[in-house]
Amino acid sequence: MLSAKSLFQEILDNDESFRLFCSIAADGESQGGWENGRIAALVPPGLRELAPKVARHGADEDKHGRIFNALLKQRGLQPVAVPYDTDYTLLLERRGIGLAHDRLSRDEPLTERDVIVYLAHSRVTEQRASEQMRLLLKHFAGHPVLGRAVKMISRDEDNHLAYCHEELLLFARAGHGRTIQSVLRECAQAEIRVYRDVSLAVMSHMGEVLRWPRAKAAVLAAGIHAVYAGERLVGWRRMVSLEQPARRNALGGPAVPESEYA
Ligand SMILES: [Fe+2]
Ligand SMILES: [Fe+2]
Repeated sequence: MLSAKSLFQEILDNDESFRLFCSIAADGESQGGWENGRIAALVPPGLRELAPKVARHGADEDKHGRIFNALLKQRGLQPVAVPYDTDYTLLLERRGIGLAHDRLSRDEPLTERDVIVYLAHSRVTEQRASEQMRLLLKHFAGHPVLGRAVKMISRDEDNHLAYCHEELLLFARAGHGRTIQSVLRECAQAEIRVYRDVSLAVMSHMGEVLRWPRAKAAVLAAGIHAVYAGERLVGWRRMVSLEQPARRNALGGPAVPESEYA
């Protein structure tokens, strides 16, 4: 039977597929860390109280990158170069979603709108991250090697999502509701496509490594297309809603060090 759990177990059990999985994850996390670090440095003077939370967001993502690299190292593996078509962060940026890296590389303070774009982009991508980590948590919370890492990252991603809701609601109350809704929609619609394309690419690379028979690859691809169809129809709406999170000020305070996971 093909299930998320059996599929992931298969990827975990093979050194090459595990190496590809961790390399893709580590790379995405570190790109997120870099982006947040730059945004924290460029927060405009009027929004300065946001800067430590953005910095904390970046520190968490950098930590996730280190955790995935540590998982590789524990198994005596080196990271591999991430194939272009599996680079979620890069592909979103190429579609003009979020803040462009060349913008973030310039030492020029962001505008208020830039900050809203950052938060809306994060609200959508952190929803994805939080859901993916919860799926891993559901199946691998008790795993001897992965369990603690998955628990820590999942908790962090939930915090990131809570933080985005809370901060965006503050901006909405300050009169930016329309801008937020339009940026969220644009972002969610692009994200579901990029997520589909990246999922297909990851599965195709995994299929090569694990020598999946054609029928199995076809079933997986059909599943990914079905998820996309559902998200395009109604699923995207879950990514654009804003609710006051149960956990307030989720990123107030320093990052929990990764030493707690290993
Ligand atoms: Fe992360
Ligand atoms: Fe995150």
